[in-house]
Amino acid sequence: MLDRRKLLTLAVSTGAGALLIPVGTKVAGAVRAPDMAGMDMSAMSGSVAPAHHGPMVMDDSAVPAQKGFTGTPFTMPMIVPAELRPMRSLFGTDNYRIAMRPAKVELVPGVPSDLLTYDGTFVGPTIRARSGRTVRVTFDNQLPDAATVHLHGSHVTPFNDGQPMNTFAPGESRTYVYDNSWPAQTMWYHDHNHPLVAQHVYHGLHGFYIVEDDFERSLHLPRDEYDVPIMLAESTFDDSGVLTYDFFDFDRPTILVNGRPQPFFRVAARKYRIRLLNGSNHGVLTLDLGGAEMLQIASDQGLLPAPVPLTKLVLSPAERADLIVDFSRYRLGSHVTLNETRGPILRFDVDRHAHDTSRVPRRMRPMEPAPPVAATREVVLSTNFDTIESYINGKVYDMDRIDFRMRLNTSEIWSIKNIDTDFGGVDHAFHLHHVKFRVLDRDGAPPQPWESGWKDTVLCSAGSTVRVQVVINGSETGTYVCHCHMLEHEEAGMMANMEFYA
Ligand code: C2O
Ligand code: CU
Ligand code: CU
Repeated sequence: MLDRRKLLTLAVSTGAGALLIPVGTKVAGAVRAPDMAGMDMSAMSGSVAPAHHGPMVMDDSAVPAQKGFTGTPFTMPMIVPAELRPMRSLFGTDNYRIAMRPAKVELVPGVPSDLLTYDGTFVGPTIRARSGRTVRVTFDNQLPDAATVHLHGSHVTPFNDGQPMNTFAPGESRTYVYDNSWPAQTMWYHDHNHPLVAQHVYHGLHGFYIVEDDFERSLHLPRDEYDVPIMLAESTFDDSGVLTYDFFDFDRPTILVNGRPQPFFRVAARKYRIRLLNGSNHGVLTLDLGGAEMLQIASDQGLLPAPVPLTKLVLSPAERADLIVDFSRYRLGSHVTLNETRGPILRFDVDRHAHDTSRVPRRMRPMEPAPPVAATREVVLSTNFDTIESYINGKVYDMDRIDFRMRLNTSEIWSIKNIDTDFGGVDHAFHLHHVKFRVLDRDGAPPQPWESGWKDTVLCSAGSTVRVQVVINGSETGTYVCHCHMLEHEEAGMMANMEFYA
């Protein structure tokens, strides 16, 4: 873990921090809510019925509040982000409109934080799309800054990709067109302004975009209210419960679960599809259900060839994992917690029976063969701790420089090498726009079980080398970015341009 004080000291002593501090202060000056520091959070707790503990139940009576959270754990219901209805559906196209605007949101009850949002909520509204059917989303920029919106995991034209420098100004609107020419998958839309991305996303500019298709429907996986997207986001609160942002804060202690610390979620004793997204700026999350089995059915780019049983799951920023969790294994009244290494972050309360006709097939979507390998590349990730610049192959991002030229309908082997072993090591989470890849190996060892299937983001821990096979399909030529999805690293330069040619 990078030592924050050391980094700060370096930044100050070299003067390089001056480059970054204005970025970090832009929203840090946010108006603080009326003083609520003295508020008794336990007064907010609804009464949660005592559990009649069945088998395999965590005793959560002594679960401490997460560091940085002053309330009582498991007293607030988890919010499932609302699904947005199209304004209009015409000629096979669904039209949506979303306002990007500042909003006061109570992440901690009773204590509003000043956020930047899509439609006023910390996790923006969910768009549920169908493969092959076009979605147009008009975003109205009512923010104080320019912005751009990227649909993470998509395959669209460069304009519709919401590129980091292709922003639109406050007061302007922009319509992005997504033809959903890709299969079912859990995606997310988020801000991509360079170099404000880190604080924009941190303050709430993110939401789910879920694509469904006929094949997935035919599998009879859990759906509707039993299909639940959950975004996890590492955050820091001040003593009064107000969300605070600091560029150099690399130990954000509180994990928000759909925008709330340690909420509970009432579930029926049946199977659920849980779509997990690590929406953190920086933190790698290690998750478990207290040893209980989770069946992973999809990763970043959709369904796996076959379900993968897991008792633990590691998600770096922007990675997704769809899990089937079968709560019928628990007696009514059971509490099941989703835990991160630093403690429980979400409690599932099994409180009712429900009919369950869903299934988990043994075979799902086979991975199609990749086109022939046309190139191999070494991509070195590093940080200059004196200048606080982050590099890909020794260079910071330059919008006018093409870093990688890649030929359509070929594949490439990328060795992504993280050489940041100083200061205890800095991890990276590498993401490529527009293309997908599969993980071949990490330091020569097979990838982790949760890294199977097609992906778009991969963890590259300090000192390790991950090899991926990148598939460049389609007919879209043009320039797209790849970058570290630890957003402060991206802001500090760890981003490059890929140009696709026919
Ligand atoms: Cu989540 Cu450049 O993307
Ligand atoms: Cu992306
Ligand atoms: Cu990084």
